[in-house]
Amino acid sequence: MKIVITGAGGFLGRKLSLALLGRQTPPAGFDHPLAELVGADLMPPPDLRDPRFHPVACDIGDGQAVRELVADADLVFHLAAIVSADAEADFDRGMRVNLDGTRNLLEALRAGGRRPRLVFASSVAVYGGNLPETITDTTHLTPQTSYGAQKAAGELLVNDYSRKGYIDGRSLRLPTIVVRAGEPNLAASTFASSIIREPLAGEEAVCPVTPDTAMYLLSPRRVIAAFLHAAGLPASAFGGWRSVVLPGLTVTVGEMVETLRRVAGDKVAARVRWEPEARIQAIVAGWPARFAPERGLSMGFAADTSFEEIVRAHIEDELGGRIA
Ligand SMILES: NC(=O)c1ccc[n+]([C@@H]2O[C@H](COP(=O)([O-])OP(=O)(O)OC[C@H]3O[C@@H](n4cnc5c(N)ncnc54)[C@H](O)[C@@H]3O)[C@@H](O)[C@H]2O)c1
Repeated sequence: MKIVITGAGGFLGRKLSLALLGRQTPPAGFDHPLAELVGADLMPPPDLRDPRFHPVACDIGDGQAVRELVADADLVFHLAAIVSADAEADFDRGMRVNLDGTRNLLEALRAGGRRPRLVFASSVAVYGGNLPETITDTTHLTPQTSYGAQKAAGELLVNDYSRKGYIDGRSLRLPTIVVRAGEPNLAASTFASSIIREPLAGEEAVCPVTPDTAMYLLSPRRVIAAFLHAAGLPASAFGGWRSVVLPGLTVTVGEMVETLRRVAGDKVAARVRWEPEARIQAIVAGWPARFAPERGLSMGFAADTSFEEIVRAHIEDELGGRIA
């Protein structure tokens, strides 16, 4: 089988590529083993030194290039996007990549006529504004950012192209993924990773929100497992509505730093400096933090069991078990 990942050079795209190459069996519902994995991104993503992996430079905003990219794909993971603060700062670019790019991909898959399976990385940024205390599976989509609006629009399109039988799509609403490996990015949530990642690497980190700020989180390990699980579910598991909120963990930023202290000690936790910044505090306060993701749980998606599990997984996966 042939799998395509858009945004394969990004944080999750790279991890997903490695996970797919490491699997012995194809996702459920596919008869043939992985023969080709195309990793597409603006710049060709790094080669993963596996003969089945083909890095490709492709701009998702270019319809013709996208048609060539997915011509004979059996399964596509659509991760290419520009993130929240970036899409807010550059409206045209956000629309071009996050909305037009998604439409290009859907049109290309439709033109191919093979009804391939598509897993789309959406976000809980589809919720915003005056929200109920707990988000349920029937809470309306009320995005308050361009990024959230683009993800919500993408979900509706995935749903409609699936209803028409052009694709077999599924959209996952991702919580904030923590701990992000590598450098901080332009997302307003980037501090949630920095306050764990930097102290563990021996560096200081600034926390721009107060300790009582609650967030809805999922680890890289769990989100990659969710992508693979979503790809293997039968269409009937989704029925007429192709979106699902991924189960996550609600935790305050204060609890996050206390967990860091428990796992790595006082010296490491003291590397976090609390410097609340009104602008970031206001953005984060607008994000939903409490969810009852019954549909996702009933479909077999799973959250991390504790924030400690998330910190320990980061130390194991990214630091080779060593704390600075
Ligand atoms: N990481 C999170 O916390 C989080 C949370 C919710 C949703 N998501 C979604 O999950 C997906 C992956 O997230 P990530 O953290 O790996 O993001 P990332 O920014 O690390 O990766 C996104 C990739 O998309 C690529 N891209 C941007 N414009 C492109 C274009 N025009 N053509 C082709 N590729 C382009 C970028 O070069 C980048 O490598 C995104 O769609 C994101 O919106 C992520």
